[in-house]
Amino acid sequence: MADYDLVIAGGTVVTPADMFAADVGIVGDKIAAIGVGLRGGRSIDAHGLLVMPGGVDSHCHIEQLQSGGGADEESWVTGSTSALAGGTTSVITFSTQFKGHGILEPLAEYRRRAAKAMVDYSFHQIITDASDEVIFNEVPQVVASGVRSLKVFLTYDPLHLDDRQFLRVLAAARRTGALVTVHCENYEAIKWRTAALLADGKTEPKYHAWSRPSMLEREAAHRAIALAEMVDQPIQIFHVSCPEVADEIARAKARDLKVWGETCPQYFVLSAQDMDRPGFEGAKFMCSPAPRDAAASEGLWKLVRDNVLDIVSSDHSGWSYETPVGKRVHGVDAPFRDIPNGVPGLGSRLPIVFSEGVSKGRIDPCTFVRMIATNPAKLFGLYPRKGTIAPGTDADLVLWDANKRFTITNRLLQHVIDYTPYEGLEVTGWPVATIRRGEVVMKDGVVQAEPGTGAFLARGPYDLIRPTGNLPFGFDASAFRV
Ligand code: URP
Ligand code: ZN
Ligand code: ZN
Repeated sequence: MADYDLVIAGGTVVTPADMFAADVGIVGDKIAAIGVGLRGGRSIDAHGLLVMPGGVDSHCHIEQLQSGGGADEESWVTGSTSALAGGTTSVITFSTQFKGHGILEPLAEYRRRAAKAMVDYSFHQIITDASDEVIFNEVPQVVASGVRSLKVFLTYDPLHLDDRQFLRVLAAARRTGALVTVHCENYEAIKWRTAALLADGKTEPKYHAWSRPSMLEREAAHRAIALAEMVDQPIQIFHVSCPEVADEIARAKARDLKVWGETCPQYFVLSAQDMDRPGFEGAKFMCSPAPRDAAASEGLWKLVRDNVLDIVSSDHSGWSYETPVGKRVHGVDAPFRDIPNGVPGLGSRLPIVFSEGVSKGRIDPCTFVRMIATNPAKLFGLYPRKGTIAPGTDADLVLWDANKRFTITNRLLQHVIDYTPYEGLEVTGWPVATIRRGEVVMKDGVVQAEPGTGAFLARGPYDLIRPTGNLPFGFDASAFRV
């Protein structure tokens, strides 16, 4: 008689800490046992495969609403398809505030749209206007509804917050028990430099990188950490592009501050050179912060190994190359300043990190699991339900052929975006099956999941993001309505 509904038999189980040969027994949507000789009603032969937790992508943009109306091209159905094809079973996307508006209405709209998801999901709430109403009335409601992270931009028109508004968000997060995630680049310096480049006729995509050199990211990271330290509010720094930024995080960690760092595959395999292609082609590689160079990429791997960088997310952004609403929304002669930023990467995240990391000997499989699943689940309050393989956790798994070689093409990634910046990249290691809460939702590249089967992940309070209690002079400014 079968003890389990489904057994993943004979694979090598990879947890954040260990690798061992074992079967995984699943009952309903949970892992029930890890052992040998487990008997299931159904079984999947995983001999020769790695059995890893489903990926948790804690930074991706799906159906993000645009200020002029409409949404990003990547829908919840196509985005979920790409995620599942690439071994990711949970995502955290964004709910955006438009200046002059609140955050409750957009969040309701994002939740309505996400009802079509085929992956499990949560949101970061972006704050672009730290009004009294938002800070003192709406943020507490949003956090109470299970959206326990706020995102701020220190650059970008029209999203950026000045330091005072940023402090108000940090203080609101401290009062309500949320994490703050930060896009770190210096707004005024980028604006000034952009104006100078454009005045000099330097308008092509490659000047995007010239407009925002790494010290502007480093400066903003330093400032974000200092302000968060003053308020005693934990933060995560998004999409760290190079070691000099990560060094700011290392110094903060060394002083026991609660500061975490995320990087993305684009910073491992792209460089500023990629934007220097003929015509408009460089737009395909434009994201912010800008990719740097090969030495910076190699340096990031060391910082992953040293536990300075905690997470590799995709920062998947839904801009196609050919469509009139994507990269060329302002025409192919648009100056770099007006070309939408961001690159697609939901489906390619795990293959690139595995191939560049594990297959090339830079990290071991347990580190890979921590970076793409365990650490994001822990930092964003989803652990241990997500991000590991243990009895009682959600049966989210990816079965991985570590030897399978593929050349990345856009078609393999199954997103709606009409290109990938990684076209032609050779990878070793590929997902052969994805299991989401006990259901096989991808096998050999074929995604079979019903829209609407993804679950909203409400995130309650958790210890990791509790303030440390260390306040300068013992004074808690966040207790006041300022
Ligand atoms: O260029 C990027 N990263 N686009 C997406 C928006 C953001 O800054 O995360
Ligand atoms: Zn950002
Ligand atoms: Zn982003």
